[in-house]
Amino acid sequence: MATYLVTGVNRGIGRALVEGLLARGHTVIGTTRDGQAPFDHPDFRVLACDIGDTASVCTAAQSVSEPIDVLIQNAGVFGPRPQELADLAPDDFLEVLNTNVVGPWRVLQAFLPNLKRSRRGRVLMISSGMGRFSGSSQGAPAYRASKAALNKLVQTFAHDLKGDGLESDGIAIVACHPGWVRTDMGGAGAQIDAKASADGLIQLAENLQLSGTGQFMDWTGQTQGW
Ligand SMILES: NC(=O)c1ccc[n+]([C@@H]2O[C@H](COP(=O)([O-])OP(=O)(O)OC[C@H]3O[C@@H](n4cnc5c(N)ncnc54)[C@H](OP(=O)(O)O)[C@@H]3O)[C@@H](O)[C@H]2O)c1
Repeated sequence: MATYLVTGVNRGIGRALVEGLLARGHTVIGTTRDGQAPFDHPDFRVLACDIGDTASVCTAAQSVSEPIDVLIQNAGVFGPRPQELADLAPDDFLEVLNTNVVGPWRVLQAFLPNLKRSRRGRVLMISSGMGRFSGSSQGAPAYRASKAALNKLVQTFAHDLKGDGLESDGIAIVACHPGWVRTDMGGAGAQIDAKASADGLIQLAENLQLSGTGQFMDWTGQTQGW
């Protein structure tokens, strides 16, 4: 059994990830902005962590001393709707980038010492098919650009975390498209429920090896084009 850290667990895919991981016998540390747990379980504890705030992330990381085997960076925002060029205030775009790009950077940097102490460290960055360079790019430019930037971070971090200079053998990191999921963000008309997405992502995390680092995967375990 492994110790997982999952961000943004009060609702949506994050909450379903916690439920799925606990059902499989894993230990879960979750984060919510206010530190409130969505439910109680003996193998689950929650930290207060606003991923948009460096001090908040550092304080959360200082309270965790044990190794973390798997970090799932799930917390994210879509941004204002509509968010076309004429609608979106530049500062609102900055807010989306701060949460979806700088946020995962903060969390990975702060918890890297814990990941390095695992014998098989793994990181899932929950991205989106909307961040792909191939296919449709219509609409939601701020959200799409933030996930495209997150994908590029995954590609570069994969090199940095492969092993040189790490206490562990190396940390595997992938970007993940969780599917179009019925959550507050995905809406009621989305294709799959949060449990189906979470079950697939957990399987992906359990199977992930260093040989698969630096890829863009979907929740079914298929490799995606960037
Ligand atoms: N749903 C989909 O169809 C879909 C498709 C592709 C990718 N995704 C990605 O999947 C992930 C989860 O999405 P979801 O559908 O579950 O969204 P959601 O229902 O809107 O939940 C988003 C979660 O992120 C948290 N969060 C947002 N900003 C945060 C911050 N600054 N600090 C800490 N937590 C923060 C939220 O906490 P609060 O309640 O405090 O706001 C909430 O727990 C996101 O990264 C999203 O981009 C979703």
